[in-house]
Amino acid sequence: MKSFRQELQLALDERQKNALFRRRRTLYSPQGTEVILDGQHVTSFCSNDYLGLADHPDVVEAFHQGLNKFGAGSGASHLVSGHLVPHELLEQELAAFTGRSAALVFSSGYMANVGVLTTLLDNNDVVLEDRLNHASLLDGGLFSGARFKRFAHLDTAALEKKLSSIHDARRKLVVADGVFSMDGEIAALPELIRVTSNHNGLLMIDDAHGIGVLGKNGGGTIAHWQEQGAKIDEDNLQILIGTFGKAFGASGAFVAGSEELIETLIQFCRPYIYTTAISPAQAEAVRASLKIIQKDNWRRQYLAQLIKRFRAHCEDLGLTMIPSSTPIQAVVIGDVSKTIQASEQLMHEGVFVSAIRPPTVPAGTARLRVTFSALHTESQFQKLLDVFEKYAHCWVEDASE
Ligand SMILES: Cc1ncc(COP(=O)(O)O)c(C=O)c1O
Repeated sequence: MKSFRQELQLALDERQKNALFRRRRTLYSPQGTEVILDGQHVTSFCSNDYLGLADHPDVVEAFHQGLNKFGAGSGASHLVSGHLVPHELLEQELAAFTGRSAALVFSSGYMANVGVLTTLLDNNDVVLEDRLNHASLLDGGLFSGARFKRFAHLDTAALEKKLSSIHDARRKLVVADGVFSMDGEIAALPELIRVTSNHNGLLMIDDAHGIGVLGKNGGGTIAHWQEQGAKIDEDNLQILIGTFGKAFGASGAFVAGSEELIETLIQFCRPYIYTTAISPAQAEAVRASLKIIQKDNWRRQYLAQLIKRFRAHCEDLGLTMIPSSTPIQAVVIGDVSKTIQASEQLMHEGVFVSAIRPPTVPAGTARLRVTFSALHTESQFQKLLDVFEKYAHCWVEDASE
């Protein structure tokens, strides 16, 4: 009989054999566009710090001030005694920023998604999820005990067909990423709203990668569509999730929606209730990020230029790109080993781009995930274009396999 440790080792060996073994790399510098990774100086196109706020002086200073004023830890969960003034103010500011009645701060996006889904759904309900939704949304849907249905990626006709076949559910909750984390595509909110409302469903959008990045003032995927004339409000998109770990440059998350939604979460959401509140200093840092997000439109405009130029370059090189106008740019190579090799080739040239493979993305779609930051300089960007030019011929063949 195998020991516990032998059993574990067997599964680890299997993962290694399938080229799916993951290794953590250690950063010896702050997050940024030039980092020290496992001792090597590299130019990074591999973080979600899209606006370059993770090491912004105002955000760092707000953290310091928060520490001086409120100490290091919140000391308790929100419902016990850990809800401090910075949390309260942050929630009010997030509600105003998103144009929703109320907002609630969570310790992480994973917890917010699992918390919302398990609080609102049970086995009387149906949850319908885009096939490429983030793992936390899929997990939340599964943990909730609701009937779980996935629809083809971005395919609202497929969603409509599934919705039409449901006659016996208390709630039908449609869930999608606002910007898909591994593809960079923007969800078609007007279509999702139309189909969901037609079938008396509810809509939840996780805008982890859209908040701060899309819309003139960083309002995210909702603002992106509203600026094109779409009517989106709490009655047709009931649940909005945002995270602080990406454009905000910090960590944590929020849910925004009606007063009733937020009060329900405060009363019943276990991942909200039974955990220590984020540190008040961190909430102060997030408040500082929110100010910058709303005023520094140049960060979004600059990103848009980089994205456009990068896509044109990759298309000239014959690379397979997923359509995306966001800072997440996926270059599909297909084969897992070749994708890892591509990432290693780039690393050899001092350029850090991550290889994303199954199960994070569907089998056969392993890819390089390039992410841009508003802090990438022209010379860093040029370096990326040059190394892509040097190696693209190795990757093109595989994309057509
Ligand atoms: C779309 C999406 N939702 C939720 C999360 C989880 O957020 P957090 O990192 O705050 O747990 C992530 C990534 O981390 C994500 O990409």
